[in-house]
Amino acid sequence: MKNDVMNYALEAGNPYLLGAYAPTFNEIVADNLQVIGEIPKDIDGIYVRNGPNPRFEPKGHYHWFDGDAMLHAVQIQNGKAVYRNRWIRTTNFKEEEEAGECLWQGLMGRLAANMDRPWNRGVPLKDTANTAVAYHNGKLLAGWYMCGDLYSIDPITLETKGVEDFNKTLSSKAMAHVKVDERTNEMMFFDYELTGSYLAYGVIDGEGTVKHFTKVETPGPRIPHDMGITENYSILMDLPLVYDMEVMATRGRALPIFKRELPSRFGVLPRYGDGKTVRWFEGEPCYIYHVINAWEEGDEIIMDCCINPEPTPQDKLKKGASKVEKLNAYLRIEAHLHRYHFNLVTGETREYPLDDRPTEFPLMNSAYLGQKSRYAYNQHFDNSEKLRFDGLVKYDTQEQTAKIHWYGEGRFGSESPFVPREGSKEEDDGYVISFVTDERDGKSEVIILDAKNVDKEPVARILLPQRVPLGFHACWVNGDRLFS
Ligand SMILES: [Fe+2]
Repeated sequence: MKNDVMNYALEAGNPYLLGAYAPTFNEIVADNLQVIGEIPKDIDGIYVRNGPNPRFEPKGHYHWFDGDAMLHAVQIQNGKAVYRNRWIRTTNFKEEEEAGECLWQGLMGRLAANMDRPWNRGVPLKDTANTAVAYHNGKLLAGWYMCGDLYSIDPITLETKGVEDFNKTLSSKAMAHVKVDERTNEMMFFDYELTGSYLAYGVIDGEGTVKHFTKVETPGPRIPHDMGITENYSILMDLPLVYDMEVMATRGRALPIFKRELPSRFGVLPRYGDGKTVRWFEGEPCYIYHVINAWEEGDEIIMDCCINPEPTPQDKLKKGASKVEKLNAYLRIEAHLHRYHFNLVTGETREYPLDDRPTEFPLMNSAYLGQKSRYAYNQHFDNSEKLRFDGLVKYDTQEQTAKIHWYGEGRFGSESPFVPREGSKEEDDGYVISFVTDERDGKSEVIILDAKNVDKEPVARILLPQRVPLGFHACWVNGDRLFS
């Protein structure tokens, strides 16, 4: 099978299957890893990252979002590291394993050929669970960017346990970006489907049972990617980037349209609020992939995120553009750090950019999620056609300063969570961790940076025995939360 995918990649010249993106086919466990520097002994936990890694030769033109999910993880304890990688055994993955071939056309393929396959949330696409990963109630939960099943994964072995049904209390699907409040162990989630005019929202308690579920009406099908939480509220998004539903119905193609005449709308509701109690705040039209954090301050809710004021760069494509040019354009993200203030008394929104550097895939100290925070760790886009990260930007939004760690010539990083130092008291007292892959020699490593001095050399570089292809979202599971 290995050769099938790679022959396809070479023949198609598909940039998202070659070089630093090329899939890996061996599932391994490796310890006694070579380390440059020293792994700090005050780190205890697991860094895990999700991403696309096709098992079989793709059908039709491959889009980076199509690949089967593979998790890569590094467990660190007592100054030692163990690396593991495993595909997620989704329902669709197992079906394809049985068939011995890919059964689905992808995002840029001939979706009409998928019409007889089971649709996911109004979309004839394979639910791969390849997008994000979070930790809640002793389980890693991996999900998909179009809303799908959340797969329960053993955080140590990366073995797929199956579809998580939350003690049979979940009546919907869920978007990959769930939000865990580590203070209460509640997990907030949302869901949508392209056949309905609503956003669903729910709360799962620390024992893994859905305690609250409600629906918020929207003027049509909406496709938000993320949400925000504060101590008492959740923030859902109705953004003016929508799918052309006529094209979807007739050609099964997910064609995004930016309706710049519409505002961005932010629906604020109490954590356990009924959907009818939502309060809408309006902002400038944009699309938002990822929220960093939100919190309550006086009469306001403040939300930091990365916004895309022009979210459809594919509109600038010339006629006759090649498949690769189209793929690059669809994957292009032109985002910057941005702040919203939603005034709960006046109903007004105030918003402004916090920086103009092209950054996205932000993470922060997850213990502060929903509480006032100051630091964000964003990935910096390199100046190429491809979606890849050439540096990590640590933002101090209070002082309005930034420190940058450049991964180095030909080296590209992954979404980088904050790792608290054992017994840490300050928000940035710890480390930042990232997989880095060198396109020139195909080698990968894990770098550990001092969070207060990310612009300095890593405190440790853990050399890995195989390449980790570039991917999507990551999380850090701290040892004191493992199985607790
Ligand atoms: Fe995402």
